[in-house]
Amino acid sequence: MKIIVKNSKKEIAEEVSDIIINGVKENPRIILGLATGSTPIDTYKDIIEKAKEQKVDFSKVTTFNLDEYLDNPDETQSYRYFMDTHLFNGININKKNTHFPGIDNIGTYDEMIAKSGGIDIQILGIGRDGHIGFNEPGTPFDSKTHIAELKEETIKDNSRFFRSIDDVPTRAVTMGLDTILHARKVILIATGENKAEAIKSMSEKNDVNCPASILQKHQDALIYCDKEAAELINK
Ligand code: F6R
Repeated sequence: MKIIVKNSKKEIAEEVSDIIINGVKENPRIILGLATGSTPIDTYKDIIEKAKEQKVDFSKVTTFNLDEYLDNPDETQSYRYFMDTHLFNGININKKNTHFPGIDNIGTYDEMIAKSGGIDIQILGIGRDGHIGFNEPGTPFDSKTHIAELKEETIKDNSRFFRSIDDVPTRAVTMGLDTILHARKVILIATGENKAEAIKSMSEKNDVNCPASILQKHQDALIYCDKEAAELINK
């Protein structure tokens, strides 16, 4: 695991989008693992712009999203809708190649990923409590795709996207920590001072109370932080 500190979230988006664009150019059949949330939005915007400018072909690319809400009455808050809006509708990806975990494939999602060849690059954000995907503190490091109950802090954080906190789903299907660890390359992005504690604890301890700390075991995990997110770690 390597921590890379950049001046701004704009610089991070530029660099991470380059990694993805170059990955697609080198391997048009690349398998990408994708995250939702506020963090990757700038990166996805840059990918769309660069794909247009450089005429990058995404038609053979396959994607697996990290997670999806369960019992979500509002389709416009689904992660499928998020990905369509922030990335897929802006590139020439074949939607048939874009996958999400859900109630019907909980037991087979890891197998689907493995059969497709495995994830080449996994994009991640991080929760204030150190969660990745919806793997909250206490999730075993050997977990596969499973149903997760969201912690109160996560429900509160995610309520900014909903009309009221009561509308936020309390359950989701998420890739497990072991699923994530199997990706060949992992890129975690953390921006803003509210992620500083999580970055500090993932760099210091390696235990299930900080799920992101599993990345210490990964051979090729890049942790991109802006100055604010990195302010509590020793450089
Ligand atoms: C989203 C996901 C979550 C987010 C995390 C940070 O697919 O898996 O783990 O990455 O909650 O969210 P933001 O980026 O909104 O701060």
